[in-house]
Amino acid sequence: MPADIHDLRGERSADLTGAALERVRNVRPGAAVTLLLPANAALLMASLNLQLRENLIWDVVEADGAWRVTVRHRGDAAPADVLALLAADHKRIDGLLARVLSLLNRGDAAAAVPLLREFAGALKRHVGFEDGELAMRLGASRAAADEPPAVMLREHGEIAQQLALVEEVLATEPVDGSELAVYCAILSGTLAKHEYREENNLFPLWRVALMRRAADERAELLEKAAAVLHGRDASAATAL
Ligand SMILES: [Fe+2]
Ligand SMILES: [Fe+2]
Repeated sequence: MPADIHDLRGERSADLTGAALERVRNVRPGAAVTLLLPANAALLMASLNLQLRENLIWDVVEADGAWRVTVRHRGDAAPADVLALLAADHKRIDGLLARVLSLLNRGDAAAAVPLLREFAGALKRHVGFEDGELAMRLGASRAAADEPPAVMLREHGEIAQQLALVEEVLATEPVDGSELAVYCAILSGTLAKHEYREENNLFPLWRVALMRRAADERAELLEKAAAVLHGRDASAATAL
C-alpha cells in the first residue's frame, strides 16, 4: 500500500479519531492523504477539521463497505468566489501577524521586521480591495451607519490608525521590539473582531449582491482580487 494511503479499518473505534488525526495532521498544500475507514466519515472528518483549524478539505467515496476519504489542505481548494478568497486571505494575514508576534515575544525583532513589512503590505492590499473595488461594486456608501458595510469602512479607519503606529515604530532605528509587540498585539485583537464581523455579517450580504451579477463579472472580480491580494496588480492597491 502506498505511503499516503492509510488503512484504518482495523482500528478500535476508541482509537480511530486519534489514528486518523495523526495521519492528516501534517497535510500540506499540494499533497493528499487517503484514509480507508470502516464507517461513514462525515462526523469524524468534521471533528478532525475543527481540531486542525479548518485547514482540511476532503472527498469521500464508498466502495464495498469501506469509506475512502481523500484529504487535502484547504489551500488547494479553488475559492468559490471573491468573498471566499477574502476569507482565506484573512487567515493568511492572521498567520503572518501570529508569526511576527511569536518572534517579537521571543525577542527576535530582527526576524520579525521583514515579516511585519510583508504583513503590512498584505493588509493594505486587502483593505484597499474591500474599500475600493468591493464597496464600490457591491454597495457600502449608501449603507446606514449601523449596517455592516458602514461598520466595515469605520473599522478600516481604526485598523489604518493602528497600522500607522506599527509603521512609525518600524521606521525608527533601532526598532524597539517590545513597543512593536504591544502595537501588534492591539492590532491583532482589532483585526480578529473585524474579520469575524465581515465574514459573518457583511460577506453574506455581499454574496447576495454578487449572485445578482453576471457570471463573467463574478469571475473577473475573483481574478482581480487574486492579483491584487498577492501584489501582482500594484495599480489597484490603495495605500491606507
Ligand atoms: Fe476588512
Ligand atoms: Fe477583510
